[in-house]
Amino acid sequence: MRKKITVVGAGNVGATTAQRLFERGYADVVLVDIVEGMPQGKALDLLESGPVLGTDSMISGSNSYEETAGSDVAVITAGIARRPGMSRDDLLFTNMDIVGGVAEQIARHSPDTIIIVVSNPLDAMAQQTLKVTGLPRERVVGMAGILDTARFRTFLAQELGVSVEDVQAYVLGGHGDTMVPLVASTNVGGIPIGRLLAQDAVDRIVQRTRDGGAEIVGLLKTGSAFYAPSAAVAQMVDSIILDKKRILPCAAYLQGEYGVDGLFIGVPVRLGESGIEEIIQVDLSDDEQAALNNSAAAVKELVEVMANRPPAAEQA
Ligand code: APR
Repeated sequence: MRKKITVVGAGNVGATTAQRLFERGYADVVLVDIVEGMPQGKALDLLESGPVLGTDSMISGSNSYEETAGSDVAVITAGIARRPGMSRDDLLFTNMDIVGGVAEQIARHSPDTIIIVVSNPLDAMAQQTLKVTGLPRERVVGMAGILDTARFRTFLAQELGVSVEDVQAYVLGGHGDTMVPLVASTNVGGIPIGRLLAQDAVDRIVQRTRDGGAEIVGLLKTGSAFYAPSAAVAQMVDSIILDKKRILPCAAYLQGEYGVDGLFIGVPVRLGESGIEEIIQVDLSDDEQAALNNSAAAVKELVEVMANRPPAAEQA
């Protein structure tokens, strides 16, 4: 029997993710959204691409969760996306309600599933998912690090005129302004980046990476990035469904690792059929550890804002 994947939110990120996963052909896909007819329509359109692409997988759309029962992996992309001038944190309360409700439904219908959280602000939404579902931490993972790292690798490859495949890098930390590119261990074909680029060029690329999401929002004006985010999600799903055990930067709930306790932060993890199979502890320089602490403090602030949220009646 084919594996089963649920994607909740059939907007830009969700529909593109569903397309990428359907085209893999290794799993059936259920696409869920609150808008009536929309996930059904997109799923049927995708299904009708099957004969052309040569995939026999099933894809269906729904406005409820019965059809999602028994999913091996569930991807949460439901929520609102940024508009120009908004930070990811501006989405906090709206997406907290949406993601909390979605996560609860997913866990009820698929208690053994692994949840990949994509909705922003990412680290806080992953925390909310872990809280409402009560799933073990191995089975709640956030997508951010692969995307941030892909942006960093894209800009470095462009600057140096080399293949993106030969740029090795990691961006850790929270998915926001405090993300932590590990510059010292970034290399191109084994050569440290510091020997190939002047410091000011590296600094410029690091800043463009931090602002990578906002750059796209500024251009699109009506929404945020979805092609690169969905590619990153698909890489995580590949590693889980195919039990590839890839080591990928993802948001994981830390319990002491990297000196962080009780928060989701982007770190390298080994992803396999049981979810996060290991949190990989790489050596950080003092500066990198300080930057990670700073990033964790920013995530903690959001988590506290969620915990201390006033009751609905008191909100402006
Ligand atoms: N249940 C299911 N779907 C929902 C719900 C809900 N409770 N609330 C909203 N949605 C759906 C919307 O109807 C919409 O189709 O989520 C979808 C979001 O799609 P887009 O607005 O296109 O947003 P998108 O670009 O896909 O981003 C989704 O991912 O990258 C993050 O920051 C981004 O938080 C945002 C999320």
